[in-house]
Amino acid sequence: MSKIPVIIDCDPGVDDSYAIALANSWPEYDIVAITPVEGNVPAAVTRKNALCLREMLDIDCRVGFGAETPLVKPYARDAAGTHGVSGVGSVVFPDPRLGPDEKPAWEVIYEEAVKADGKLLLFAVGPLTNIATALRLHPDLPKYINKFCIMGGGTVGNIRETNRTAEFNIWVDPLAAKEVFEKLEVYMVGCNACYLSEIKGSEFDEMIALCGDNPKAYLVRELSVFSKKNSLENGHDNNIIYDALAVASMIDPEVVKYEDYYVYVEDRNDVINEGQTVVDLDRTSGKEPNCHVAMGVDKERFVAMLKDMCRFYAAK
Ligand code: RIB
Ligand code: CA
Repeated sequence: MSKIPVIIDCDPGVDDSYAIALANSWPEYDIVAITPVEGNVPAAVTRKNALCLREMLDIDCRVGFGAETPLVKPYARDAAGTHGVSGVGSVVFPDPRLGPDEKPAWEVIYEEAVKADGKLLLFAVGPLTNIATALRLHPDLPKYINKFCIMGGGTVGNIRETNRTAEFNIWVDPLAAKEVFEKLEVYMVGCNACYLSEIKGSEFDEMIALCGDNPKAYLVRELSVFSKKNSLENGHDNNIIYDALAVASMIDPEVVKYEDYYVYVEDRNDVINEGQTVVDLDRTSGKEPNCHVAMGVDKERFVAMLKDMCRFYAAK
């Protein structure tokens, strides 16, 4: 059976790295491109991490460098507390041997979408700047995409400045998100779902043990060592592997329960809820649903999938 072509637009990022490792471990997926964007850490760092992740995980794919700043909003704040200054916690990467694609993220996304001829599964697990740019330059992009799944937004958020109405990926570039939600059918794995998938210390311990000491499992093992420590000892939210849940929701439909709602993005910058994905939960907008919103999580299935991922790399 032919594999599903997959693109992961991301801001690696500890949980982005888990997401890429999970997608890479799934036999039905063929990662054809990784496209880094500004987000958890500045673009110079997400770009380097994308190149390094490709090589550490032996992924034969394009790396198209994406945006360094949001479409109009200044790049206000990183998430280095959660991801470390390197963006990948305590993971140490050898210097990458291969460089980026000669084309930028938005051109790589479009070219691969056309090549996939309607079969493309596009993940976006960082700010949506690259996706919005690709849509501005190539208005026919939607017809080439089979499914578009994001980690972002939600019925609740995680940005304190917005009274936790907005989630980081959307809040970094609200205009990009607004345009993307207006142009694409979105599978949205947001904070409300991610909060139902918290990983316990004992589950991190099991994942670490399953990795064993195989060098091929170094990445996932080290991500788990860091995530356990940085959440349980330092109080950061690394016990929520946000981006991996988005990937898991497409691998196994039983992991996440989606419900269809109309959603728009608040992109005004003079309101407290700038960057909120406003979900029409009581269906009073009069607008047709445009978004599949993740509302339920089978955490046991998710953790089991993460453990299978560890076994995959331990056996390489
Ligand atoms: O709010 C969590 C999201 O923001 C995750 O994708 C994390 O990697 C950061 O990008
Ligand atoms: Ca991310």
